[in-house]
Amino acid sequence: MGIIKLEKGKFSIRASPRTLNQLRVHFEAYSSSEGELIQTCIMDAILNQMFYSKSKRKRTAEETRKLVSTYTESRDCVVHFRLEHAAVDFMCDFYFDDSHYNLKPSITTAILCCVADVCDVVALDDQLAPKDKLMYMIGQKNETMLKLLKESFQSLYPKYPIKGYAELFCGTANVLLHMDKMNVEYLNDNSDDLIGLLRTIKEYPYLFKVALWQMELSKDTFINAKEHTKELPTTESLHSKIEYFAYFWFKRYTSLRGTGHTFSYSNSLVAYREHLDIINLISKRLENVTLKNTDAIYFGNYLHKELKIKNFIVYIDSPYIFTESYYKINRKDNSVFNGHLRLRNLVEKLRENGNYAFVSYRITASESMKNKGITSEKICKRLDSLYCNRGFYYRLQPLPKGQIEILLCTDNFHNSIKYDTPLP
Ligand SMILES: C[S@@+](CC[C@H](N)C(=O)[O-])C[C@H]1O[C@@H](n2cnc3c(N)ncnc32)[C@H](O)[C@@H]1O
Repeated sequence: MGIIKLEKGKFSIRASPRTLNQLRVHFEAYSSSEGELIQTCIMDAILNQMFYSKSKRKRTAEETRKLVSTYTESRDCVVHFRLEHAAVDFMCDFYFDDSHYNLKPSITTAILCCVADVCDVVALDDQLAPKDKLMYMIGQKNETMLKLLKESFQSLYPKYPIKGYAELFCGTANVLLHMDKMNVEYLNDNSDDLIGLLRTIKEYPYLFKVALWQMELSKDTFINAKEHTKELPTTESLHSKIEYFAYFWFKRYTSLRGTGHTFSYSNSLVAYREHLDIINLISKRLENVTLKNTDAIYFGNYLHKELKIKNFIVYIDSPYIFTESYYKINRKDNSVFNGHLRLRNLVEKLRENGNYAFVSYRITASESMKNKGITSEKICKRLDSLYCNRGFYYRLQPLPKGQIEILLCTDNFHNSIKYDTPLP
């Protein structure tokens, strides 16, 4: 069973004035109380320093512990602080996960380890790699598509004073995470679960990471996770929110094709925990991003009518034509997107108001679609009826297994073709 305990408890440790001073200088928090300093240090250590993989640390957890054991200064300040039990367990496990020496965890020593690691900045500066994703989901852009999107967006920078970025169907935020940062950024999706998950990671990365770290990697946890995520929590309690979204993520991450239905995870606990290293990177990337949880067309109209955006890149990755029902898994109320024409009209309005919209579609039919009588020709015809001869540009991108994606734009972008004849 996965165990998530996040109740806050009172703790006290003995520290030297030198240690506390070190923290004050490090966090430039001269007016903070001693308890607050310790809390901040533990959170920072969990998020930024306790990278699981040795390759990302200049010093192993064991080396830190050995270093701390040589400290001799007298620890005459007693500091009281409040923190979630889970965070304290996590920290003690991290620095004492050593069956050979069978050391008994002491909170004071673990905190001194945190202080040493935080002040020395032992974790190497890390960045999201193109392969990094929060979790897999249907329709997610792969590395080839992300590269194409990035160079296509960048090809507009020299021509126009781009000021912001918005996505109408962001899914797991996979695209934004790999694009250049803009001054103003919006992400929208109508899935309560996906936006709730992104908000949790943005606001409570360390509690979220601790909750996932504590989960046992097993089918039992998966079954438990499915059980716990049948309904969104109705209470305002932070504990239930973190628990719900930790289980929601676990269920999706460890399931076949990311749908959350069937357990399928064969990697080790080390690999699972290593994956958690990206949580704080994602959290930092989302820091100034506004997250919205509404219908895409409604949100698009809000952007141009209410916010009157101008010089924005708007990326639109809607459910693909004829596979709209595949995204039902992301919503509780089973509604299926059916607004491709309304979306095209919105794109044209955005263009009129001085924005640059990119739209992605898959134009090849998969085997299962062909079995239902849906062909690539039908998809292309539908796209022609929506976008051909209306001043759009496009580029085709081959993908694995003979699949092809089209990237459409309201403007002439890198290596694009004018869409004035039907698709080949
Ligand atoms: C193709 S996926 C987006 C994938 C994303 N670009 C990525 O690379 O991970 C489409 C998304 O549209 C969302 N969606 C479906 N209908 C919607 C609607 N009417 N309004 C907003 N979002 C919708 C689904 O929840 C899903 O996350």
